[in-house]
Amino acid sequence: MQKRIRRASSVTGSITLPGDKSISHRYAMIAAIAEGATRIQNYSTGADCHSTLGCVRALGIDVEGGGTEFVVHGKGLDGLRAPERDLDAGNSGSTIRMLSGILAAQPFYSRISGDESLARRPMQRIMKPLTEMGARIRARADKYPPIEIEGGRLRPIEYCLPVASAQVKTCVLFAGLFAEGETSVIEPVRSRDHTEIALREFGAEIRAERQKITVVGRPKMTARELIVPSDLSSAAFFLVAALLVPGSHLSIRGVGLNPTRSALLDFLTGMGARISIPSLETHNGELVGEIGVEYSGLRGGVIEGSLTAALIDEIPVLAVLGAATEEGLIVKDAGELRIKETDRIQTVVENLRRMGVAAEETPDGMVIPGKQNFRAAAFDSFGDHRIAMAFAVGALRAEGESVIEGAEAASVSFPEFWDTLAACSQS
Ligand code: S3P
Repeated sequence: MQKRIRRASSVTGSITLPGDKSISHRYAMIAAIAEGATRIQNYSTGADCHSTLGCVRALGIDVEGGGTEFVVHGKGLDGLRAPERDLDAGNSGSTIRMLSGILAAQPFYSRISGDESLARRPMQRIMKPLTEMGARIRARADKYPPIEIEGGRLRPIEYCLPVASAQVKTCVLFAGLFAEGETSVIEPVRSRDHTEIALREFGAEIRAERQKITVVGRPKMTARELIVPSDLSSAAFFLVAALLVPGSHLSIRGVGLNPTRSALLDFLTGMGARISIPSLETHNGELVGEIGVEYSGLRGGVIEGSLTAALIDEIPVLAVLGAATEEGLIVKDAGELRIKETDRIQTVVENLRRMGVAAEETPDGMVIPGKQNFRAAAFDSFGDHRIAMAFAVGALRAEGESVIEGAEAASVSFPEFWDTLAACSQS
């Protein structure tokens, strides 16, 4: 599918966005192994979170509902049944990595795979700790999906994560739920903590002492009423759109502002963005608020170290923004970007160049000089949702009409993206 985007004269209005992808995955998976019927409102409409629901159903769990509201009829820690066929994680790294923690503890065999992009994403990072816990796991070429899991009894471990990854942390903590005793994960830098918050919400015992997170095995988890906040990583596209187009002002309601996710707002504010949070509350342990943003001239900045991990999903759209700032943007320590849905260092730099923007790849980042003009271009999503949306946003500032090839990729996290963009961008 192709989308055509013209230069915008402003980006204005008040918008709501779909539910947070990270939180939706976790709620669905935990609800399946809790006892009773969990109602989840504002569940992500993205294909990734539907892959998770599909897997949960294939494991014998009834899931009712549709749209953004689902009821997951959890059967407790010992209630899943062997799937009749391969579990399909689609494009979703979160589904395959996090669900594997649960599958590793089941008294049955399962095989989980996904699409072509997922088939190229590394799985040793979860195979290593799960094997240490006693699981038997095989993967294609010892590292890629499909992965085959011969589930069984697990022992608790203390695991030092070699890379900052909330997916891997979650995988180990989920496996730890089934082991007798305490399982701990030590993170190199603090990653998003939705799993810890959600497990606590369902009644599990979980402690966080600095970067060490410990879960107590065999908890009694019971069903909850849950509301998923809107996704800050989806909001990032609209924040950047308003910051790129002079005269813009936008309000985004009900957005998740968990401090382990909101580095984006601090980073933008640090560059000079006028951003306000007129209201803030807590739902199910997660901070939720309204964000106001106004067009602002920005200085530019450097993303490195722990900030890179905190902004990892937002870097594609921040790269587009960086080219319009005074001093540009430098991204370092971002080798993880090369193993996302696409090699995002390569796909970002390629699309920036197509719009006449100078940008250099480095082995683990990129350098984008500031004060550059954007030219309308034919962009390619390369099948990656965040690349499709980042360059649709860039097109709002380019003279003329741009084309986004492979625009359907946006549906992986944000099927409503194109309509929302059309509703708030004025030509
Ligand atoms: C996610 C963690 C991050 C992020 C992904 C979602 C999660 O991945 O990029 O979009 O929900 O835990 P890593 O765990 O690979 O860093």
